[in-house]
Amino acid sequence: MPKTTNPTWYERVPKVELHLHLEGAIPLEALWELVQKYGTDPSVTDIEVLKRKFQYKDFPHFLATWVWKNQFLREYDDFTFIAEAVAKSLVRQNIRYAEVFYTPSDFFEHGLETQKLTEAIRSGLARVKQTEVKLIMDFCRDRGPENAVNNLSTVNEVKQLMVIGVGLGGSEQAFPPEPFAEVYEQARKLGFHTTAHAGEAAGPTSIWGAIRSLKVERIGHGTRAIEDEQLMKYLAEKKIPLECCPLSNVRTGVVKSIDAHPVKKFYDAGLLVTVNTDDPAMFGNSLAEEYQLLEERLGFSRDEVRTLILNGIEASWLAEKRKQVMTDSFCKDKDWLE
Ligand code: HPA
Ligand code: ZN
Repeated sequence: MPKTTNPTWYERVPKVELHLHLEGAIPLEALWELVQKYGTDPSVTDIEVLKRKFQYKDFPHFLATWVWKNQFLREYDDFTFIAEAVAKSLVRQNIRYAEVFYTPSDFFEHGLETQKLTEAIRSGLARVKQTEVKLIMDFCRDRGPENAVNNLSTVNEVKQLMVIGVGLGGSEQAFPPEPFAEVYEQARKLGFHTTAHAGEAAGPTSIWGAIRSLKVERIGHGTRAIEDEQLMKYLAEKKIPLECCPLSNVRTGVVKSIDAHPVKKFYDAGLLVTVNTDDPAMFGNSLAEEYQLLEERLGFSRDEVRTLILNGIEASWLAEKRKQVMTDSFCKDKDWLE
C-alpha cells in the first residue's frame, strides 16, 4: 500500500541544501538496482541487508562504507541514473535548489574521467525540471594535494556544466587542510567557490586551517567549533556560514545524540547556520526530519527554522539578485507560514 499520510510542514515548506553528496544521496531503491546490476558483493542479498550496511560504529567505519558503496558505480550511465533519482528525491521534499558535491577521483580507478562523468550527471539532472542543482567537485583529501591539482585542471574544463565550487572530503583526522592551500588558491583564481569539511572528525584546529590556509567561504560541518570560544567569535564576526549536518554527526558518532548537537548554541551565538543532510541514503535522514528534530528536540522555534531555511539561500553561491528572488518566493509560498 502506498503511504497515504499527509506531508508534514517540514516536508512541504520550500528548502535548499548546501551540503549533500550525490553518491551518498542515491535513494535506496536505486542503489539496490545497481547492487543487483553488478553483483560484486554477494553478501547483500536484499534491500534490507543493504540498509543494515549503513550503520556505523564510528567515523572511519562510515568512510569505509562510503568506499564500499562506490563499487556499484562503474559506468557513465550509472551516474545519469543516480543523478535523476537524486533530483527526483529533492523534488519530493520540495528542495528547490541544491549545491551538490561529487567526487570524480573516486571513480578514476573504474576508468571514468571527469568530463564524461560530469556530462552524465548533468544529463540525469536535466531530466528533472522542478529543482535546480549546481555541482561542487570534492577533492578527496586522502589522495593528497597533487591529485587535487590534477582534479582541478579537469574540472576547470567542465565549468560550463555548472560546477561552481570545490570542496575537501575524506579522512579529516588524518589529512589536515594546510597542504591543500595552493590548490585552493588556484581554484579561487579560476573562479571557483570554496568550502571544506572541517571540525567534523577533527577539532577546531582543522577549522582554523580551513579558514587561514584554504580561505574557504563556507565550512562543511564545523561541529567542533563549539570547543573553541575564539573561533566561535570569529565565525560569528566574519559571518562564515557553517554547513551543519546534525543527523550525519549523530550517525557517525561525532556527537553522542541529537540533543548533544551544538547547532542551537551556534545559532544563539550569532553564527550563520545552515542545515543539511550530507548523505541521506547512508544516514537514513531527510532535510524535513532535520528541521523537525531541531524544533522538537533542540529548542528552535518555527520562526527560527524559517530563518535557518533562509540562511541556506544567503549562504548559497547564487548571485545576489537570485538570492533575493528566491527568498521572496519562499516567503510568499503558500506553506511558508502554514
Ligand atoms: N565527511 C568527509 N567525507 C565525506 C563525508 C563527510 O561527512 N560525506 C561524504 N564524504
Ligand atoms: Zn559531507
